[in-house]
Amino acid sequence: MSAVRGEFSSRFGFIMAAAGSAVGLGNIWGFPTQTASNGGAAFLVAYLVLAFFLAYPALMAELMIGRHGQANAVVSLTKVSNKPWQKHFAFIVGFGGILCAGFILSFYAIVAGWMLSATAQPIAALAGADAASTWLSEQSLTRNVIFTLVFIVLTIAIISRGVENGIEKWSKRLMPALLGILFLLIAYVLTQEGAMEGLKAYLLPDFSSIFDTQLIVSALGQAFFSLSLGTSVMIIYGSYISKKENLVSLGAYVTLIDVFIAFVAGLLIIPAMYVAQAQGVEIFSASGKLLSEDTLVFQVLPALFEGMGSVGLFVGFAFFALMSIAALTSSISMLEAPVSYAVERFAMKRIQATWVIGALIAVVSITIVCNLGALFGLVITLTTKVAQPLLGLMCCIFVGWIWYRNSLLQAIQQGNPEVQTTLFWKIWPWYTKFVCPIAIGAVFVHSLLS
Ligand code: TRP
Repeated sequence: MSAVRGEFSSRFGFIMAAAGSAVGLGNIWGFPTQTASNGGAAFLVAYLVLAFFLAYPALMAELMIGRHGQANAVVSLTKVSNKPWQKHFAFIVGFGGILCAGFILSFYAIVAGWMLSATAQPIAALAGADAASTWLSEQSLTRNVIFTLVFIVLTIAIISRGVENGIEKWSKRLMPALLGILFLLIAYVLTQEGAMEGLKAYLLPDFSSIFDTQLIVSALGQAFFSLSLGTSVMIIYGSYISKKENLVSLGAYVTLIDVFIAFVAGLLIIPAMYVAQAQGVEIFSASGKLLSEDTLVFQVLPALFEGMGSVGLFVGFAFFALMSIAALTSSISMLEAPVSYAVERFAMKRIQATWVIGALIAVVSITIVCNLGALFGLVITLTTKVAQPLLGLMCCIFVGWIWYRNSLLQAIQQGNPEVQTTLFWKIWPWYTKFVCPIAIGAVFVHSLLS
C-alpha cells in the first residue's frame, strides 16, 4: 500500500468535493426532467422523503465504512468484516462498486461530451464560424467521439493531481461557479413569459400520483444516483476525511446541498420549458406526455435560446457551461474509485494509474458511442437500476449486520464524542439494519418486475 494517502485539507474542501460528486447531471438534468414527466410536485415530494429517509442513512453507511478503513473500498469493507466469507463478500461488493463506477463514467462521459460541444457551439456562432457551429450542434459520430475523449482527458487531468491539489482544489473552484451561473439563469428565465405556469406545474402537487409505485421507484433510483451511492465512491471520499470531523453532520450537509441543488435546478429547467412553449416550441407529445429527456435538453432549450436572439447565445453558453461543470465535479469522483484501488493495491504511481484506467474507460466509452442504440441504454440500466441499489443495500448490510456494534460506535464517536446520546445513534443503527435493506430491496424487486 502506498505510504502517504491523501486527505481533504478542510471541512469545506470535503463538503465541496462530496457535494461536487453528488451534484451532477443527475441533479440538473435528470431530476427536473423526471419531475416534469412524473406529475411535477408529486415527484418532488417523493424524492425529498426518499432522499432523507433512505439515501442519507445509506450515504452515512458508506462514509462510515470509508473513514474507518482509511483505504480503498475493498480494503475498507474487509476491515469491518470478521469471518472469512464476509471478507470474500467485502471483495465482491467493493470491487463490484469500483467496476460500476467505471461503467457509469463510460456513459456519463458521452453525455458530458454533448454538454461540452453545446458549450462550444455559441462561441463558434459568435465568432461567425457557421459551419463549425452547425457541426457542433448536430449529432455525429466524429463529434461525439472527440468530445467524449476531451471530457475524459479533463477528468484524468484533475484526478492525476491527487486528492488535495486535484479533487479538492477544483471542486472548491467549480462548485461556487456552478451556483453562481445557476442563480443568474433562474433570475433571467423567471422574467420571461410563460415561466409562472412552469413554476405552478413544478410546485403544486398532483397528489393523485404520489403513491404510484413507478413514481416511487424512479424517485429512489434518482436519489441513489444523485448521492453517488452504491459505487464505492462515497466510501473512498469518506476515507479521505480526517478522524477529527463529525461525520454525521458532514453527511447531512452533503445530502442537503444535493437535494437543494436538484430543487433549484427544477426552478430553472421546468419554467424554461414553459417559456419555450410560450414561444411556440412543442414540449408535449401528441399523447400529452412530456417529450423525452434528451429532446428537452438538446432541442427544446436550444430552440428557446435561439428565440432570445443574441442574448440567447450568452444564455445558452452559460447553461451548457453549467452542465459541463456539474458533470466534471461528478466524473472525477467516478474515476477516483478505480484509481485509488489501483494505487493502493498494485502500488502504482497515481499519474500512471489515472492514465491507464482513464484509457480503459475511454475504450469502453468509444465502444458505446459507436453502438449508441444497442449499448447506451443497456449500460445505464445495468449500472444505475441494478448494480447501484444492490451494492448500496449491501453496504447497509455491512454496517447493520456485519460490523460489530461497539466498533461502529467507536468509529462514529471520533469527531463526535457525544453521539451516543443523540437521536442519530438511537435510530440510525437499527434503521440501517432493517428499514434500509427492506425498503431498498422492495423497490428494487418492484423495478425488476415492472
Ligand atoms: N451524483 C452524480 C449526479 O447526480 C453522478 C455521480 C457521481 C455518480 N459519482 C457517481 C453516480 C458515482 C453514481 C456513482 O449526476
